[in-house]
Amino acid sequence: MLSFPDSFRFGTATAATQIEGGCTTSDWYAFAQQPGRIKGGGRPDVACDGWRRWRDDLAIQKSLGLGAYRMSIEWARIEPRPNEIDQAALDEYRRMLGAMRDAGIEPMVTLHHFTLPKWLADRGGLLAEGFHTRLARFARVAAGALGDVCRFWITINEPNVLAAQAYLLGAWPPARQSPTEALRAHHRMLAAHVAAYRALKDVLGDDAQVGVAHHLRLAQPARPESSADRMMAHVFARVFNDSFALATCTGRMYGPLDALVTGPEGFRVAEARGTQDFFGINYYSRDVVRFSPGHAAELFAERSVPPGVEVSDLGWEVYPEGLGMIVRAWAQRSGVPVYITENGIADATDSRRGPFLVRHLAQLARAIADGVDVRGYFHWSLLDNFEWAEGYGPRFGLVEVDYATQDRRIRDSGHLYAKIARERVLL
Ligand code: FCB
Repeated sequence: MLSFPDSFRFGTATAATQIEGGCTTSDWYAFAQQPGRIKGGGRPDVACDGWRRWRDDLAIQKSLGLGAYRMSIEWARIEPRPNEIDQAALDEYRRMLGAMRDAGIEPMVTLHHFTLPKWLADRGGLLAEGFHTRLARFARVAAGALGDVCRFWITINEPNVLAAQAYLLGAWPPARQSPTEALRAHHRMLAAHVAAYRALKDVLGDDAQVGVAHHLRLAQPARPESSADRMMAHVFARVFNDSFALATCTGRMYGPLDALVTGPEGFRVAEARGTQDFFGINYYSRDVVRFSPGHAAELFAERSVPPGVEVSDLGWEVYPEGLGMIVRAWAQRSGVPVYITENGIADATDSRRGPFLVRHLAQLARAIADGVDVRGYFHWSLLDNFEWAEGYGPRFGLVEVDYATQDRRIRDSGHLYAKIARERVLL
Protein backbone atom coordinates (compact mmCIF):
# COMPACT_ATOMS: atom_id res chain seq x y z
CA MET A 1 0.00 0.00 0.00
CA LEU A 2 1.38 3.41 -1.00
CA SER A 3 0.68 6.39 1.20
CA PHE A 4 1.23 10.14 1.49
CA PRO A 5 2.27 12.04 4.63
CA ASP A 6 -0.25 14.32 6.32
CA SER A 7 1.70 17.35 5.21
CA PHE A 8 1.44 16.42 1.50
CA ARG A 9 -0.83 18.84 -0.40
CA PHE A 10 -3.35 17.61 -2.95
CA GLY A 11 -4.62 20.38 -5.20
CA THR A 12 -5.59 21.42 -8.68
CA ALA A 13 -4.23 24.01 -11.11
CA THR A 14 -5.71 26.52 -13.55
CA ALA A 15 -4.61 29.72 -15.30
CA ALA A 16 -6.46 33.02 -15.58
CA THR A 17 -6.91 33.26 -19.36
CA GLN A 18 -8.01 29.64 -19.55
CA ILE A 19 -10.90 29.98 -17.13
CA GLU A 20 -11.77 33.58 -16.24
CA GLY A 21 -13.23 35.27 -19.31
CA GLY A 22 -14.05 38.97 -19.37
CA CYS A 23 -10.57 40.35 -20.07
CA THR A 24 -10.15 42.18 -23.36
CA THR A 25 -6.74 43.75 -22.76
CA SER A 26 -4.43 40.76 -23.21
CA ASP A 27 -2.35 39.67 -26.19
CA TRP A 28 -4.25 36.34 -26.26
CA TYR A 29 -7.60 38.09 -26.44
CA ALA A 30 -6.40 39.92 -29.54
CA PHE A 31 -4.67 36.84 -31.00
CA ALA A 32 -7.78 34.67 -30.71
CA GLN A 33 -9.79 37.20 -32.73
CA GLN A 34 -7.58 36.52 -35.74
CA PRO A 35 -9.12 33.89 -38.03
CA GLY A 36 -7.35 30.53 -38.08
CA ARG A 37 -5.30 30.99 -34.93
CA ILE A 38 -7.37 28.79 -32.59
CA LYS A 39 -8.78 25.37 -33.48
CA GLY A 40 -12.53 25.57 -33.91
CA GLY A 41 -12.35 29.38 -33.65
CA GLY A 42 -12.53 29.26 -29.84
CA ARG A 43 -11.87 32.50 -27.99
CA PRO A 44 -11.12 33.12 -24.31
CA ASP A 45 -13.78 35.85 -24.08
CA VAL A 46 -15.94 33.88 -21.63
CA ALA A 47 -14.08 30.58 -21.06
CA CYS A 48 -15.52 29.10 -17.82
CA ASP A 49 -16.78 32.51 -16.69
CA GLY A 50 -14.53 31.97 -13.68
CA TRP A 51 -14.12 35.68 -12.97
CA ARG A 52 -17.79 35.75 -11.98
CA ARG A 53 -18.21 32.15 -10.80
CA TRP A 54 -15.11 31.66 -8.67
CA ARG A 55 -17.18 31.19 -5.51
CA ASP A 56 -18.94 28.19 -7.09
CA ASP A 57 -15.61 26.73 -8.17
CA LEU A 58 -14.17 27.24 -4.72
CA ALA A 59 -17.18 25.44 -3.25
CA ILE A 60 -16.46 22.49 -5.58
CA GLN A 61 -12.86 22.32 -4.40
CA LYS A 62 -14.02 22.42 -0.82
CA SER A 63 -16.55 19.67 -1.42
CA LEU A 64 -13.76 17.54 -2.90
CA GLY A 65 -11.66 18.13 0.23
CA LEU A 66 -8.69 19.53 -1.69
CA GLY A 67 -6.13 21.47 0.31
CA ALA A 68 -4.34 23.56 -2.34
CA TYR A 69 -5.03 25.49 -5.52
CA ARG A 70 -2.66 26.89 -8.12
CA MET A 71 -4.05 29.80 -10.14
CA SER A 72 -2.69 32.77 -12.02
CA ILE A 73 -3.52 36.45 -11.84
CA GLU A 74 -4.09 38.22 -15.16
CA TRP A 75 -1.46 40.91 -15.62
CA ALA A 76 -3.50 42.46 -18.47
CA ARG A 77 -6.48 42.86 -16.14
CA ILE A 78 -4.46 44.34 -13.29
CA GLU A 79 -2.37 46.67 -15.49
CA PRO A 80 -4.60 47.25 -18.54
CA ARG A 81 -2.59 50.30 -19.60
CA PRO A 82 1.07 51.05 -18.79
CA ASN A 83 1.50 51.93 -15.12
CA GLU A 84 -2.27 52.09 -14.57
CA ILE A 85 -3.25 49.63 -11.85
CA ASP A 86 -6.87 48.47 -11.64
CA GLN A 87 -7.45 48.41 -7.90
CA ALA A 88 -10.88 46.78 -8.27
CA ALA A 89 -9.29 43.80 -10.04
CA LEU A 90 -6.69 43.43 -7.30
CA ASP A 91 -9.44 43.65 -4.68
CA GLU A 92 -11.34 40.85 -6.38
CA TYR A 93 -8.24 38.62 -6.42
CA ARG A 94 -7.80 39.48 -2.75
CA ARG A 95 -11.33 38.35 -1.97
CA MET A 96 -10.72 35.17 -3.95
CA LEU A 97 -7.51 34.31 -2.12
CA GLY A 98 -8.94 35.23 1.26
CA ALA A 99 -11.98 33.02 0.71
CA MET A 100 -9.70 30.21 -0.34
CA ARG A 101 -7.68 30.42 2.83
CA ASP A 102 -10.86 30.58 4.89
CA ALA A 103 -11.86 27.33 3.18
CA GLY A 104 -8.57 25.73 4.25
CA ILE A 105 -7.15 25.78 0.73
CA GLU A 106 -3.55 26.99 0.33
CA PRO A 107 -3.17 29.17 -2.75
CA MET A 108 -0.19 29.25 -5.10
CA VAL A 109 -0.23 32.24 -7.45
CA THR A 110 1.48 32.47 -10.84
CA LEU A 111 2.41 35.94 -12.04
CA HIS A 112 3.00 35.11 -15.68
CA HIS A 113 1.14 32.21 -17.28
CA PHE A 114 1.79 32.70 -21.03
CA THR A 115 -0.22 35.93 -21.48
CA LEU A 116 0.82 39.57 -21.53
CA PRO A 117 -0.96 42.90 -21.46
CA LYS A 118 -1.57 43.84 -25.09
CA TRP A 119 0.26 47.16 -24.66
CA LEU A 120 3.38 45.29 -23.56
CA ALA A 121 3.11 42.78 -26.42
CA ASP A 122 2.83 45.75 -28.81
CA ARG A 123 6.10 47.08 -27.44
CA GLY A 124 7.94 43.84 -28.12
CA GLY A 125 6.59 41.49 -25.42
CA LEU A 126 9.21 39.20 -23.95
CA LEU A 127 11.80 40.80 -26.20
CA ALA A 128 10.85 44.34 -25.19
CA GLU A 129 13.50 46.51 -23.68
CA GLY A 130 12.93 46.37 -19.95
CA PHE A 131 10.61 43.32 -19.95
CA HIS A 132 12.34 42.03 -16.83
CA THR A 133 11.86 45.35 -15.03
CA ARG A 134 8.18 45.37 -16.00
CA LEU A 135 7.61 41.89 -14.60
CA ALA A 136 9.46 42.80 -11.40
CA ARG A 137 7.28 45.88 -11.00
CA PHE A 138 4.15 43.77 -11.49
CA ALA A 139 5.51 41.32 -8.89
CA ARG A 140 5.85 44.20 -6.41
CA VAL A 141 2.30 45.36 -7.05
CA ALA A 142 0.93 41.83 -6.65
CA ALA A 143 2.98 41.11 -3.54
CA GLY A 144 1.95 44.40 -1.96
CA ALA A 145 -1.74 43.74 -2.55
CA LEU A 146 -1.90 39.97 -2.02
CA GLY A 147 1.16 39.04 0.00
CA ASP A 148 -0.71 38.57 3.26
CA VAL A 149 -3.17 36.12 1.68
CA CYS A 150 -0.70 34.14 -0.41
CA ARG A 151 2.57 32.49 0.58
CA PHE A 152 3.43 30.44 -2.52
CA TRP A 153 4.36 32.21 -5.75
CA ILE A 154 5.39 31.15 -9.24
CA THR A 155 7.14 33.83 -11.27
CA ILE A 156 6.79 32.30 -14.74
CA ASN A 157 4.97 29.26 -16.08
CA GLU A 158 6.83 27.00 -18.53
CA PRO A 159 9.28 29.48 -20.06
CA ASN A 160 10.63 26.81 -22.42
CA VAL A 161 7.19 26.02 -23.83
CA LEU A 162 6.36 29.69 -24.28
CA ALA A 163 9.64 30.47 -26.06
CA ALA A 164 9.11 27.50 -28.41
CA GLN A 165 5.41 28.04 -29.18
CA ALA A 166 5.59 31.83 -29.56
CA TYR A 167 8.97 32.34 -31.21
CA LEU A 168 9.96 29.05 -32.84
CA LEU A 169 6.81 27.23 -33.93
CA GLY A 170 4.72 30.35 -34.54
CA ALA A 171 1.64 28.83 -32.88
CA TRP A 172 1.14 31.42 -30.12
CA PRO A 173 1.45 35.21 -30.13
CA PRO A 174 3.49 36.87 -31.52
CA ALA A 175 3.59 33.86 -33.90
CA ARG A 176 7.25 34.18 -34.86
CA GLN A 177 9.40 31.45 -36.35
CA SER A 178 12.90 32.49 -35.48
CA PRO A 179 15.36 30.29 -33.56
CA THR A 180 17.43 33.28 -32.50
CA GLU A 181 14.39 35.11 -31.16
CA ALA A 182 13.31 31.95 -29.35
CA LEU A 183 16.69 31.74 -27.64
CA ARG A 184 16.55 35.41 -26.78
CA ALA A 185 13.01 35.14 -25.38
CA HIS A 186 14.08 32.19 -23.24
CA HIS A 187 17.02 34.14 -21.92
CA ARG A 188 14.95 37.28 -21.29
CA MET A 189 12.48 35.24 -19.29
CA LEU A 190 15.34 34.01 -17.15
CA ALA A 191 16.33 37.61 -16.43
CA ALA A 192 12.68 38.43 -15.73
CA HIS A 193 12.33 35.47 -13.38
CA VAL A 194 15.39 36.57 -11.40
CA ALA A 195 14.09 40.13 -11.17
CA ALA A 196 10.61 38.97 -10.10
CA TYR A 197 12.06 36.51 -7.58
CA ARG A 198 14.06 39.31 -5.98
CA ALA A 199 11.06 41.67 -5.99
CA LEU A 200 8.81 39.12 -4.27
CA LYS A 201 11.40 38.28 -1.65
CA ASP A 202 12.13 41.94 -1.11
CA VAL A 203 8.48 42.77 -0.42
CA LEU A 204 7.43 39.59 1.35
CA GLY A 205 10.58 38.43 3.09
CA ASP A 206 11.73 34.88 3.59
CA ASP A 207 8.37 33.49 4.55
CA ALA A 208 7.26 33.74 0.89
CA GLN A 209 8.07 30.63 -1.12
CA VAL A 210 8.89 31.45 -4.73
CA GLY A 211 9.59 29.17 -7.68
CA VAL A 212 9.10 28.49 -11.39
CA ALA A 213 6.70 25.98 -12.97
CA HIS A 214 9.22 24.15 -15.16
CA HIS A 215 7.79 22.10 -18.03
CA LEU A 216 9.93 18.97 -18.03
CA ARG A 217 9.73 16.02 -20.39
CA LEU A 218 11.90 13.05 -20.94
CA ALA A 219 13.68 12.79 -24.26
CA GLN A 220 14.68 9.27 -25.22
CA PRO A 221 16.24 7.98 -28.47
CA ALA A 222 13.83 6.30 -30.91
CA ARG A 223 16.50 3.79 -31.87
CA PRO A 224 18.74 3.33 -28.83
CA GLU A 225 21.36 1.69 -31.06
CA SER A 226 21.61 4.83 -33.22
CA SER A 227 24.25 7.25 -32.02
CA ALA A 228 22.56 10.04 -34.06
CA ASP A 229 19.27 9.46 -32.20
CA ARG A 230 21.05 9.31 -28.86
CA MET A 231 22.82 12.55 -29.64
CA MET A 232 19.54 14.18 -30.71
CA ALA A 233 17.76 13.08 -27.55
CA HIS A 234 20.60 14.51 -25.52
CA VAL A 235 20.72 17.85 -27.36
CA PHE A 236 16.94 18.20 -27.33
CA ALA A 237 16.80 17.52 -23.60
CA ARG A 238 19.70 19.83 -22.87
CA VAL A 239 18.47 22.81 -24.91
CA PHE A 240 14.68 22.55 -24.71
CA ASN A 241 13.87 20.66 -21.53
CA ASP A 242 16.62 21.46 -19.15
CA SER A 243 18.34 24.76 -19.86
CA PHE A 244 16.08 27.15 -17.92
CA ALA A 245 15.64 24.74 -15.03
CA LEU A 246 19.38 24.08 -14.89
CA ALA A 247 20.09 27.80 -14.87
CA THR A 248 17.95 28.23 -11.74
CA CYS A 249 19.88 25.41 -10.07
CA THR A 250 23.44 25.92 -11.29
CA GLY A 251 23.63 29.38 -12.84
CA ARG A 252 24.44 27.91 -16.25
CA MET A 253 21.91 27.81 -19.05
CA TYR A 254 23.55 26.53 -22.23
CA GLY A 255 27.02 26.03 -20.77
CA PRO A 256 29.75 27.71 -22.83
CA LEU A 257 27.10 29.20 -25.15
CA ASP A 258 25.86 31.44 -22.35
CA ALA A 259 28.45 34.04 -23.27
CA LEU A 260 26.97 34.32 -26.78
CA VAL A 261 23.37 35.05 -25.81
CA THR A 262 23.02 38.71 -25.10
CA GLY A 263 20.64 39.62 -22.32
CA PRO A 264 19.10 42.73 -20.94
CA GLU A 265 21.72 45.10 -19.77
CA GLY A 266 23.87 43.84 -16.99
CA PHE A 267 22.14 40.45 -16.55
CA ARG A 268 24.35 37.42 -16.18
CA VAL A 269 22.98 33.87 -16.26
CA ALA A 270 25.02 33.06 -13.18
CA GLU A 271 22.69 35.30 -11.15
CA ALA A 272 19.89 32.76 -11.64
CA ARG A 273 21.57 30.25 -9.38
CA GLY A 274 19.48 29.55 -6.29
CA THR A 275 16.55 31.75 -7.33
CA GLN A 276 13.88 29.28 -6.23
CA ASP A 277 12.67 28.19 -2.82
CA PHE A 278 10.93 25.17 -4.30
CA PHE A 279 11.16 23.41 -7.64
CA GLY A 280 7.90 23.28 -9.64
CA ILE A 281 7.46 20.51 -12.20
CA ASN A 282 4.80 20.42 -14.91
CA TYR A 283 4.92 16.88 -16.28
CA TYR A 284 2.76 15.47 -19.06
CA SER A 285 4.66 13.10 -21.30
CA ARG A 286 7.90 12.02 -22.90
CA ASP A 287 9.35 12.45 -26.37
CA VAL A 288 10.88 9.67 -28.34
CA VAL A 289 13.39 11.43 -30.55
CA ARG A 290 15.06 10.58 -33.83
CA PHE A 291 17.57 12.49 -35.90
CA SER A 292 15.82 14.09 -38.89
CA PRO A 293 17.50 16.46 -41.36
CA GLY A 294 14.00 17.82 -42.15
CA HIS A 295 13.52 19.21 -38.62
CA ALA A 296 16.20 21.88 -38.58
CA ALA A 297 14.05 24.35 -36.63
CA GLU A 298 13.61 21.78 -33.88
CA LEU A 299 17.33 21.12 -33.59
CA PHE A 300 17.01 18.19 -36.06
CA ALA A 301 14.93 16.27 -33.55
CA GLU A 302 11.80 14.57 -34.85
CA ARG A 303 9.57 13.76 -31.92
CA SER A 304 7.16 10.86 -32.01
CA VAL A 305 5.02 8.54 -29.93
CA PRO A 306 5.97 4.84 -29.92
CA PRO A 307 3.44 2.61 -31.69
CA GLY A 308 0.80 0.93 -29.54
CA VAL A 309 1.24 3.02 -26.39
CA GLU A 310 -1.64 4.63 -24.54
CA VAL A 311 -2.21 8.25 -25.54
CA SER A 312 -4.45 11.14 -24.48
CA ASP A 313 -7.07 12.80 -26.70
CA LEU A 314 -4.25 15.12 -27.83
CA GLY A 315 -2.06 12.14 -28.77
CA TRP A 316 0.34 12.64 -25.85
CA GLU A 317 1.81 9.38 -24.56
CA VAL A 318 0.78 8.35 -21.05
CA TYR A 319 4.12 7.62 -19.39
CA PRO A 320 3.95 7.78 -15.57
CA GLU A 321 7.46 6.36 -15.09
CA GLY A 322 8.78 9.61 -16.53
CA LEU A 323 7.35 11.55 -13.60
CA GLY A 324 9.22 9.35 -11.14
CA MET A 325 12.49 9.77 -13.03
CA ILE A 326 12.12 13.54 -13.36
CA VAL A 327 11.14 14.10 -9.75
CA ARG A 328 14.12 12.14 -8.47
CA ALA A 329 16.60 13.79 -10.81
CA TRP A 330 15.49 17.36 -10.19
CA ALA A 331 15.01 17.03 -6.43
CA GLN A 332 18.67 16.15 -6.33
CA ARG A 333 19.82 18.80 -8.80
CA SER A 334 17.84 21.62 -7.22
CA GLY A 335 18.34 20.76 -3.56
CA VAL A 336 14.96 22.33 -2.69
CA PRO A 337 11.50 20.82 -2.06
CA VAL A 338 9.57 19.73 -5.15
CA TYR A 339 5.95 20.44 -6.05
CA ILE A 340 4.24 18.92 -9.06
CA THR A 341 2.69 22.16 -10.28
CA GLU A 342 0.84 20.47 -13.19
CA ASN A 343 0.04 16.95 -14.40
CA GLY A 344 -3.06 15.81 -16.22
CA ILE A 345 -4.65 14.33 -19.31
CA ALA A 346 -7.03 15.41 -22.07
CA ASP A 347 -9.70 12.72 -21.79
CA ALA A 348 -13.22 13.67 -22.82
CA THR A 349 -14.76 10.33 -21.84
CA ASP A 350 -13.01 10.31 -18.45
CA SER A 351 -12.12 6.66 -19.00
CA ARG A 352 -8.34 7.17 -18.65
CA ARG A 353 -8.07 10.01 -16.11
CA GLY A 354 -8.63 7.82 -13.03
CA PRO A 355 -5.90 5.28 -13.84
CA PHE A 356 -3.67 8.15 -15.03
CA LEU A 357 -4.01 9.84 -11.65
CA VAL A 358 -3.33 6.70 -9.68
CA ARG A 359 -0.28 5.71 -11.73
CA HIS A 360 1.29 9.17 -11.55
CA LEU A 361 0.58 9.53 -7.83
CA ALA A 362 2.09 6.08 -7.26
CA GLN A 363 5.34 7.35 -8.75
CA LEU A 364 5.32 10.21 -6.25
CA ALA A 365 4.44 8.01 -3.28
CA ARG A 366 7.36 5.71 -4.14
CA ALA A 367 9.73 8.64 -4.47
CA ILE A 368 8.57 10.00 -1.10
CA ALA A 369 9.08 6.58 0.49
CA ASP A 370 12.63 6.69 -0.87
CA GLY A 371 13.23 10.01 0.86
CA VAL A 372 12.62 12.42 -2.04
CA ASP A 373 11.21 15.71 -0.76
CA VAL A 374 7.98 16.04 -2.79
CA ARG A 375 5.48 18.24 -0.97
CA GLY A 376 2.45 18.48 -3.21
CA TYR A 377 0.62 17.67 -6.41
CA PHE A 378 -1.60 20.03 -8.42
CA HIS A 379 -3.72 18.21 -10.97
CA TRP A 380 -4.25 20.00 -14.29
CA SER A 381 -7.02 20.89 -14.21
CA LEU A 382 -9.90 21.59 -11.86
CA LEU A 383 -12.15 22.45 -14.83
CA ASP A 384 -12.29 21.86 -18.55
CA ASN A 385 -10.95 25.09 -20.02
CA PHE A 386 -9.55 27.10 -22.94
CA GLU A 387 -6.55 25.07 -24.10
CA TRP A 388 -4.66 27.83 -25.96
CA ALA A 389 -4.34 27.23 -29.72
CA GLU A 390 -6.18 23.90 -29.27
CA GLY A 391 -9.31 25.81 -28.25
CA TYR A 392 -12.10 24.16 -26.29
CA GLY A 393 -11.72 20.65 -27.73
CA PRO A 394 -9.40 19.06 -25.14
CA ARG A 395 -11.05 18.20 -21.85
CA PHE A 396 -8.58 18.32 -18.96
CA GLY A 397 -11.03 18.83 -16.08
CA LEU A 398 -11.75 16.76 -13.02
CA VAL A 399 -14.93 18.77 -13.41
CA GLU A 400 -16.77 18.87 -16.73
CA VAL A 401 -17.92 22.26 -17.99
CA ASP A 402 -20.88 22.69 -20.31
CA TYR A 403 -19.83 25.87 -22.11
CA ALA A 404 -23.38 26.64 -23.28
CA THR A 405 -24.87 26.72 -19.78
CA GLN A 406 -21.70 26.99 -17.63
CA ASP A 407 -22.97 24.01 -15.65
CA ARG A 408 -20.28 22.10 -13.77
CA ARG A 409 -20.37 18.34 -13.16
CA ILE A 410 -17.79 16.49 -11.12
CA ARG A 411 -16.43 13.58 -13.15
CA ASP A 412 -15.80 10.14 -11.65
CA SER A 413 -12.07 10.90 -11.70
CA GLY A 414 -12.82 13.99 -9.59
CA HIS A 415 -14.51 11.81 -6.96
CA LEU A 416 -11.61 9.37 -7.11
CA TYR A 417 -9.08 12.17 -6.58
CA ALA A 418 -11.11 13.44 -3.62
CA LYS A 419 -11.03 9.95 -2.08
CA ILE A 420 -7.27 9.70 -2.51
CA ALA A 421 -6.78 13.17 -1.04
CA ARG A 422 -8.98 12.25 1.93
CA GLU A 423 -7.51 8.82 2.65
CA ARG A 424 -3.93 9.59 1.61
CA VAL A 425 -3.40 6.06 0.34
CA LEU A 426 -3.37 4.34 -3.03
CA LEU A 427 -4.84 0.89 -2.84
C1 FCB B 1 0.64 23.23 -19.88
C2 FCB B 1 0.19 24.64 -19.57
C3 FCB B 1 -1.25 24.74 -19.14
C4 FCB B 1 -2.14 23.79 -19.89
C5 FCB B 1 -1.58 22.40 -19.93
C6 FCB B 1 -2.43 21.38 -20.63
O1 FCB B 1 1.70 23.26 -20.78
O2 FCB B 1 0.99 25.22 -18.57
O3 FCB B 1 -1.65 26.08 -19.25
O4 FCB B 1 -2.41 24.30 -21.13
O5 FCB B 1 -0.31 22.41 -20.50
